[in-house]
Amino acid sequence: MKNRINLCKFFDFPQIKDSRGNLTFIESSIHIPFKIERVYFLSSVPANTERGGHAHKALHQIIIPISGTFDIHLDDGINKKSLHLDRDDKGLYLCPFIWREINAFSEGAVCLVLASDHYKEEDYFRDYNTFINFIQNEC
Ligand code: TYD
Repeated sequence: MKNRINLCKFFDFPQIKDSRGNLTFIESSIHIPFKIERVYFLSSVPANTERGGHAHKALHQIIIPISGTFDIHLDDGINKKSLHLDRDDKGLYLCPFIWREINAFSEGAVCLVLASDHYKEEDYFRDYNTFINFIQNEC
């Protein structure tokens, strides 16, 4: 499938702001397009460190910078796109078969990930050439 990268869009979350601060909420299958089965987050990422470097076969994810900022670089095997994530009321949806690299973490940044399934190592492409070969044979 071509242009999977165009499916990777931002979803807006409700955010209640008052003098006490902001309250943001995300309801499974309502504010995002899948049922949440797992939540994990990246924190204390040293400067100049890159995370990610993989793609998934079936997993759907939402990436949210709940603190700080970072950049994410997407590649569907044909098209590439880089985005700066800096809003805690928006999450970036990643469909399956998107190679992603995350870098330029600001100090104290926290990258929250909502995932559609439990952790399964067999769902990963960890080697870029294997991923590209898969996409090329698919087309
Ligand atoms: P890794 O996939 O390298 O993180 P990144 O998102 O930067 O690519 O994951 C680091 C380790 O954590 C690896 O051994 C797999 C493990 N892990 C889990 O056990 N459960 C999880 O939900 C995740 C996301 C990773």
